[in-house]
Amino acid sequence: MSTVPILDLQAAHAELAQELEAAALEVLRSGWYVLGEQVRRFEAEFAAWLGLPAEAAVGVNSGTDALHLALRACGVVPGDEVIVPSHTAVATVAAVEMAGATPVFADIRPDTYTLDPDHADRVIGPRARAIVAVHLYGQAADLDRLGALAAHHGLWLVEDCAQAHGARWRGRPVGTVGDAGCFSFYPTKNLGAAGDGGMVVSRRPEVAERVRLLRQYGWRERYVSDVAGVNSRLDELQAALLRVKLRHLERWNRQRQALAQLYDKLLAGADVVPPAVAPGNEHVYHLYVVRTRQRKALVAHLARCGVATAIHYPVPVHQQPAYRRLAPAGGLPATEAAAAEVLSLPMYPQLAPTDVARVAAAVREFGRA
Ligand SMILES: Cc1ncc(COP(=O)(O)O)c(C=O)c1O
Repeated sequence: MSTVPILDLQAAHAELAQELEAAALEVLRSGWYVLGEQVRRFEAEFAAWLGLPAEAAVGVNSGTDALHLALRACGVVPGDEVIVPSHTAVATVAAVEMAGATPVFADIRPDTYTLDPDHADRVIGPRARAIVAVHLYGQAADLDRLGALAAHHGLWLVEDCAQAHGARWRGRPVGTVGDAGCFSFYPTKNLGAAGDGGMVVSRRPEVAERVRLLRQYGWRERYVSDVAGVNSRLDELQAALLRVKLRHLERWNRQRQALAQLYDKLLAGADVVPPAVAPGNEHVYHLYVVRTRQRKALVAHLARCGVATAIHYPVPVHQQPAYRRLAPAGGLPATEAAAAEVLSLPMYPQLAPTDVARVAAAVREFGRA
């Protein structure tokens, strides 16, 4: 029996092999490998895709660096607090500490798994400087309410778009609503490189300009650092491959949406909670995540049926050894419940509808067992 994988990166490559391999070869032969013409063009094309001017996008080395440098560019300094969810990739929280600030955890909404604006409001103290809205699994956090909260308290709103390239909030692409949008091009993402990569976008020219300085030692002029920066350059090979893939991203996202609709239909009435899409959201299904109280047994049953699954994320950041020191008294009930119950089913653009049917049938059979 063949196994339905959770994702298949070779399938994505196979679809565009000729174009991708030609682009890679061109870079290898060009003799220019870091921060060159490919990066400049990718930045301009990525910005245009979001409806922003070319200078609004700055390529960096990873999604983690995108967040770290965006926070610094927004003026976050040691001693500041930054409001973050705990139900996220640890990178969101690590980036806050890289900027020298203290992460302050807020709970999530139990239906969408994104920041709960009411709880975020309660944890904002006098040292708060920014909110990081994580658009988890492919769906935007509540940007209206988080934006209003940020405006009310005089905070920066930074969007973590690592899982949501192309998602929209009330028609606006994520990354363009807050003060800065941070993307990851880690290979598994909706737009994935063949290595690490990231991008900061900002409709504020001064923020984009500062990230551009910070990503290369704070140089305005070579060998002269104006500010203390880092090395977070995007390389030409990744940019060239990402330029090819960007042209297919909207189609791939539509394929993900069609597969999610099929899952929704075939799982109706099954013993799992399907993903909820908040009004005003266009979800791009980086992951298709259901919820179940019997996760361990369902995972074992699906494995027996030849269906791979994953858990995003099994341990909330505030309960991980490195970050327990930041755990709020009383914990984060909605986050802790989600971590115990969420389960990701296979999802990638090339997934066959017949495999979705096979996965859904296996889930339903578990309910009847
Ligand atoms: C929500 C979220 N934020 C940030 C990151 C960090 O991105 P990267 O792995 O490119 O550093 C990731 C991906 O790993 C992510 O899923």
